Amino acid sequence: MSSVALLKFDNKELALPVITGTEGETAINMSCLRADTGAITFDEGYGNTGSCRSEVTFIDGEKGILRYRGYPIEQLAERSGFVETAYLVIYGDLPKPYERAQFGRLLSDNAALREGMARFIQNFPRDTHPMAVLSASLNALVAYYPHLASNNHQHDLEHFDEAAAIAISKVRTIAAHTYRVRVGKPFNYPRPNFGYCENFLHLMFSEPYNEYIAKGEVAQALNLFLLLHADHEQNCSTSTVKMVASAGANLFASIAAGVCALWGPLHGGANAAVIEMLRHIHDDGDDGTKFIASAKDGKGHRLMGFGHRVYRNYDPRAKIIKQSFYDALASLGIKDDPLLNIAMKLEQAALHDDYFISRKLYPNVDFYSGLLMRAIGIPVDLFTVMFAIGRMPGWIAQWHEVAANPKGRIYRPRQIYTGHAKRDYVPMHERIEAARQEAGLSK
Ligand code: ACO
Repeated sequence: MSSVALLKFDNKELALPVITGTEGETAINMSCLRADTGAITFDEGYGNTGSCRSEVTFIDGEKGILRYRGYPIEQLAERSGFVETAYLVIYGDLPKPYERAQFGRLLSDNAALREGMARFIQNFPRDTHPMAVLSASLNALVAYYPHLASNNHQHDLEHFDEAAAIAISKVRTIAAHTYRVRVGKPFNYPRPNFGYCENFLHLMFSEPYNEYIAKGEVAQALNLFLLLHADHEQNCSTSTVKMVASAGANLFASIAAGVCALWGPLHGGANAAVIEMLRHIHDDGDDGTKFIASAKDGKGHRLMGFGHRVYRNYDPRAKIIKQSFYDALASLGIKDDPLLNIAMKLEQAALHDDYFISRKLYPNVDFYSGLLMRAIGIPVDLFTVMFAIGRMPGWIAQWHEVAANPKGRIYRPRQIYTGHAKRDYVPMHERIEAARQEAGLSK
């Protein structure tokens, strides 16, 4: 393939370099376009824009391929666990035994929150959205670890292992404490002898005289859920993390911003929106037919958990999580769930409907992940927080790519201005007079 692309514009011919990735994906480097022609590229919503080079995750949306650091998601889902995968995503390779042990110890040592942080979470009104608490808490954490947040990337990178472990471990404790405040119950303290997921379930559900010991299948389902969310290249929240990082911001400020982006219903908020949609359909006495018809009328109402900017095929994570969901249902003895019946009908109807087929809209990971979370007892308003816990390794790895890039530039997109052409300032007395005239009050 040619290593340049030729562009004719304004009587000029430009040879634009072609960049090729490991898997043969190609991009035309347009970075010289403005300097050479005065024009910028225009790609609203960045659907066709490569914003960086990255070594973390590979996706082929046409073929439904997802790999972390080269490893297929199917193999990791079957043979790895969340903590090992987190290490892989952050450090680039599967850990050797001593590295895995060291990483686990670092997570254990950093699981508890300082009392001040616990009080900070307790002081939010009970009905504060958990994503607001999470974002605020991640930012507030640096008050206790100022050496991790100098906003000097070189310095912050010297403490990267500690910062990464704090973020991964404490996000789970913050989430569980937030839940305990919402249900008016006392906090639980992390148990150093529990695994990552068992510890989270203990923090959430143990009571003073009744310790919650998670069923193996439940902890396993949670482990898989987190692993499947560990990274997803340059999605909305990750791009937000990188955008903030590109200005030189520390890890905690960057991931706190990522949480805010994830909150939206078109992104991480979709897992909760799926359950709300299923409830709405159920309460409406619909079997899904009416809802699908209204999702096709183009009035902005969508079938949540369907469609993806990158996947034009079945989301590989959705396939895996669907199976895990059925396994969890069987082990929990849940047989007849009306929302599940509606979900199955919706999926089948959409998969056979021309509207969805022609637009390549398939179920995404959120279609089944909400149902899985619900089955293992996680309240709906915590679903997006669960996504954030899972995505933490990806955000950390992608922050590191920005912070460690000596040639990195601040992310600063351009625009096409469509506002007023130049006009002159109108003094207040003239605006008053104009308003009086408009109202028919002038002398
Ligand atoms: N239901 C109905 N129609 C849809 C849906 C949907 N879920 N998704 C896309 N469409 C339609 C659009 O209306 C549009 O139709 P048109 O060509 O007739 O105008 C066409 O499909 C293309 O849609 P876009 O909005 O251009 O697709 P985009 O790539 O910008 O959006 C997104 C992707 C945001 C995921 C979208 O499919 C959506 O809103 N899905 C529902 C929300 C959701 O499940 N989000 C989770 C994403 S996965 C994740 O973040 C983990």
